Amino acid sequence: MSPDILAVHADRRARVLRALGDGAMVLPAAPEVRIGRDQDLPYRVDPDLYYLTGYTEPEAVAVLTPGTEAPFTLFVRPRDPDRELWTGRRGGVEAACEVFGADQAFPIAELPARLPALLAGYDTIYARFGGGRDDVEALLRRILVDARRTRPRAGRGPQALVDPGRLLDDMRLVKDAHELRLMREAATISVAAFREAAAVIRPGAGEWEVQAALDAGFRRRGADGPAFETIVGSGENATVLHYVRNDRPMRAGELVLLAAGALYGRYAADITRVFPVSGRFSGPQRALYDVVRAAHDAAIAAARPGAAFDAVHDAAVAVLVAGLVELGVLTGDVEALRADETAYKAYFPHRTSHWLGLDVHDVGDYARDGAPRRLEPGMVLTVEPGLYIPATALGAPEALRGVGIRIEDDVLVTAEGPEVLTCELPVDADAVAALVAGE
Ligand code: GLY
Ligand code: MN
Repeated sequence: MSPDILAVHADRRARVLRALGDGAMVLPAAPEVRIGRDQDLPYRVDPDLYYLTGYTEPEAVAVLTPGTEAPFTLFVRPRDPDRELWTGRRGGVEAACEVFGADQAFPIAELPARLPALLAGYDTIYARFGGGRDDVEALLRRILVDARRTRPRAGRGPQALVDPGRLLDDMRLVKDAHELRLMREAATISVAAFREAAAVIRPGAGEWEVQAALDAGFRRRGADGPAFETIVGSGENATVLHYVRNDRPMRAGELVLLAAGALYGRYAADITRVFPVSGRFSGPQRALYDVVRAAHDAAIAAARPGAAFDAVHDAAVAVLVAGLVELGVLTGDVEALRADETAYKAYFPHRTSHWLGLDVHDVGDYARDGAPRRLEPGMVLTVEPGLYIPATALGAPEALRGVGIRIEDDVLVTAEGPEVLTCELPVDADAVAALVAGE
């Protein structure tokens, strides 16, 4: 990793060390997940650990102890020529200090002996339970239990456990210049792969062929791979929000929904587009598409600094509900239907946006003290309104039953307004249709 990037991680660490006060932070690497007899699932780093250290090897634990001579300790798996023969070079304790800037580093086997002393002087431990590192959790539990006994005489010792997100989520929510460079690249790569995947769409081709084009398009351009399991849902499959089977041949006259994004430099993009398999939208398909498209445009326009997070969703809902009434899917007064989530939830069951970053559904509160968060420059969110008409919606016009449409772009909030990072991919129905191979 380049020194410039490591300096970015070091700056973030310095901010956290200042914010910790009487607390220390413990960040374990994500667990390795084994499947079957000896197959490991592809390893994914823990985003919080990566954000603060850049460290990517499994098993590691970072400990931040403000006010000490060695505020950044890394416990890592040591060099091991036998294992390195099979799985590649390890940095060991040497690289932990020399490359990653740890003030001290130890083999991970020494964690149980050393962690109690490292944490003994702090009231609060910032650590997360439930992440799958049972070894670290058992150790922290023991430290807290022991401190209950020793604290009265020592006059100090851990007595509170706080989620590190309390300090880290807000930092991660507002992207720095380094992150935005990676997110722009993830977006650019994703757009290019979507164009290639659209060119594979024609009657008779398999959903899996489109998935292959997307995933190959990401990898070919240097992305780590897909940020999440690629979704290619044709026909009624488009009404399943996270459909990932991708095992059905596409048929003439249907729509196909692609939801995917590259992971580049560990940052995610997240795009959804819907294409007509034959290269032309039918009248009813186009009418539904244009409603979602108008909702997408209205929601993006609402993503301005100072706006409430919910204003983006509300802008989408207003357009979607009016459209559903116009198309004869819903009946009744538009204002009343808008105000009643249960009236439209059958057709628009999810929210319009999520934060985007190291996690595809990134960290950060959407509301504080009961009030929606205000958007700030540097925040990145998706805008992804959709309409999904169940095949069983007998009240809906027949031509729309079993049709699912979602349009998703990635939006950076800037002082000047919304900047669509994925804007190079067309949204207009004619332009989208022109991208497919068709009949
Ligand atoms: N774009 C699909 C999702 O965010 O879940
Ligand atoms: Mn999304």
